[in-house]
Amino acid sequence: MKAITKSVYGGPEVLQLEDIEKPKIKDGHLLVKVMANSANPADWHILRGAPFFARFSFGLFKPKDKIMGADFAGVVEEVGNNVSHFNVGDRVFGENLAGGAFAEYTCVPAKVCGLMPKENNFAEMASVPIAGVTALQALITHGKIKEGESVLINGSSGGVGHFAVQIAKAYGTEVTGVCSSKNRDFVVGLGADRVIAYDEENIHDHQGKYDLVVDTNGNLSFSDYTRMGKRGVMVGFTTMSHMMGVLIRAGFSKFKLAQFTAEASTPDLKTIADLMAIGKVRVHIERTYPYEQIPEAIEYIEAMRTQGKVAMIWEDQP
Ligand SMILES: NC(=O)c1ccc[n+]([C@@H]2O[C@H](COP(=O)([O-])OP(=O)(O)OC[C@H]3O[C@@H](n4cnc5c(N)ncnc54)[C@H](OP(=O)(O)O)[C@@H]3O)[C@@H](O)[C@H]2O)c1
Repeated sequence: MKAITKSVYGGPEVLQLEDIEKPKIKDGHLLVKVMANSANPADWHILRGAPFFARFSFGLFKPKDKIMGADFAGVVEEVGNNVSHFNVGDRVFGENLAGGAFAEYTCVPAKVCGLMPKENNFAEMASVPIAGVTALQALITHGKIKEGESVLINGSSGGVGHFAVQIAKAYGTEVTGVCSSKNRDFVVGLGADRVIAYDEENIHDHQGKYDLVVDTNGNLSFSDYTRMGKRGVMVGFTTMSHMMGVLIRAGFSKFKLAQFTAEASTPDLKTIADLMAIGKVRVHIERTYPYEQIPEAIEYIEAMRTQGKVAMIWEDQP
């Protein structure tokens, strides 16, 4: 099968399109014929082995895992032992942070997969897992939003942010999104009640008050969280030192600030699929690349100015 592989740390130029052996089915896993992928900041962090501490998980001197990629959507080709909720032929989507998704076939634990809604195509559903689950867990699991509350979402136009705006509205909160002025109409179109353009108003001086502040961009200081929010969730980070500085200050205070690494699960993927099926959440794909251009897709998203998501296609199917 064809796969996008890496054998050293580096930029997108170290990626290769290779013919390698198709993975074998394992207990508790699904073998999925991949139809589409999406790109996430996690892909280039893993590709570059940066920040350095990530190499303790992904390989100290060179990458442990050969095949790139986490987010996928495709069709179940084989079902492993001890899997009860999926069948051959099911259209599924999911994420595998261990890698292996940027290939014609991927073998993934069934517990990180969900069934696709009938109405959506593979590119749309491949765009959901990491960004959508992160947005859901930031707002619900960690942010504990309640109907009628107010939420500020810093970085509201990217992969995580564009899901977060829609999910927060679907749960009945009042949403203020922060993005660049070029994305104002886009974020209003997602349902935000108000938009602050960070290139017109300095968010670090903003005096608004919110029940929850979610930072997907990762540039808010600890005093930004406490000035604007009753509680906060840190999703993204700009530099390790900034993130550690915020978390250390939070550790010595009573302010409720959560920081987490999202993990996909069948129930959370189903929650998002259900919101999509009733039209409360939709995926915005800014660009689509053929699989041969996966390195270019990763290069594009590394600028961190994506509007919604970038998808990559293996087979052109509805
Ligand atoms: N904790 C976790 O488990 C987890 C999971 C997934 C992702 N993440 C992290 O979350 C972050 C966002 O991921 P993503 O997939 O949403 O990335 P993305 O699609 O590249 O989106 C980045 C967004 O940041 C916005 N942005 C840039 N500068 C900004 C600023 N100064 N203020 C506010 N917004 C700004 C951009 O909007 P404009 O173009 O409008 O500027 C862009 O839409 C990344 O750091 C990623 O590593 C964490």
